[in-house]
Amino acid sequence: MTVLVTGGAGYIGSHMVLELLDAGEKVVVLDNLSTGRRASVPPQAELIVGDFGDEPLVRDLLSSRGVKAIIHFAAKIIVPESVADPLGYYLNNTASARSLLACAVEQGVKHFIFSSTAAVYGEPEMNPVTEGESLKPVSPYGRSKLMVEWMLEDVSRAHGLRYVALRYFNVAGADPKGRTGQSSPNATHLIKVAVQAALGMRPSMEVFGVDYPTPDGSCLRDYIQVTDLARAHMAALNHLRAGGESLTCNCGYKRGYSVLEVIETVKRVSGVDFDVKISGRRAGDPAAIVAANERAREKLGWAPIHDNLEEIVRQALAWEKTLLAEKAAS
Ligand code: UFG
Repeated sequence: MTVLVTGGAGYIGSHMVLELLDAGEKVVVLDNLSTGRRASVPPQAELIVGDFGDEPLVRDLLSSRGVKAIIHFAAKIIVPESVADPLGYYLNNTASARSLLACAVEQGVKHFIFSSTAAVYGEPEMNPVTEGESLKPVSPYGRSKLMVEWMLEDVSRAHGLRYVALRYFNVAGADPKGRTGQSSPNATHLIKVAVQAALGMRPSMEVFGVDYPTPDGSCLRDYIQVTDLARAHMAALNHLRAGGESLTCNCGYKRGYSVLEVIETVKRVSGVDFDVKISGRRAGDPAAIVAANERAREKLGWAPIHDNLEEIVRQALAWEKTLLAEKAAS
């Protein structure tokens, strides 16, 4: 029973591939390597370089590899970029997902796991935010993902495909065994940026706003460790295979850390007091967003095992050092 992982050469996808291989699954990765790395796909998984929106390619690989489940990670994921290039986001995240779903329906794939995002909530009225909260995405990124959630709902009703949509909060950290991690060269995410500042790869870093209505004025986020997130997908796959209903679940720890707390943690764990500048707000940032996670716990039987910010930061530091060593050796 082969599992297709789109975006399996990317950050979260490569952790998923390891999780699947560790569980003895047969894995095919489809990735166009636009941000993913060939080196992040272990030799036990087959890598096909191409676009998930390429219908002839996808149709052929679903049938020739006997794919029974799709875990769909490939996407554009940078909120400010989506504001500047909405049509690029709707093409890649929404239109191409429609093509992938059409192939899945046509080829009789019954199980689909979708990478959704906390960005579908926009600025939530209540925290922790539950899945039933109103959906008011403020960025093209969030809207491009929400439209896929809606497509899945309709397609499952019409064609009997069952799905789990997982709404990720802030994904961070790296494989505890050091096999993969966040490798994109132009990362914008807080922990990666702070770790790079600690390692002297950046002269300083910025805090985007300390005038939010939060305890210390900086934004609050729920940081989920990437292996815990991959385990939620594994639980979702098992749920679908056992005949479970289609579901949408938050993935987070139900605990928020402020930007300043994260930076303090990176300084403490690294032992480096790097330079931090306070800047103005970044467009589109909600003040606070923290996941209610009861549904994933109850319906998927998922429970976190790496919910420790220091551990997450240690993993991110270790991975960044691995990347530096690779670069030095090349
Ligand atoms: N931040 C800084 N300095 C930086 C980088 C980030 O202060 O150099 C701040 C941001 O302003 C924000 C917080 O750190 O307040 C977290 O920012 P990230 O860029 O790490 O992550 P986001 O919260 O913007 O994005 C995450 C996911 C998105 C998702 C979004 C939903 O990565 O996919 O949450 O809220 F859409």
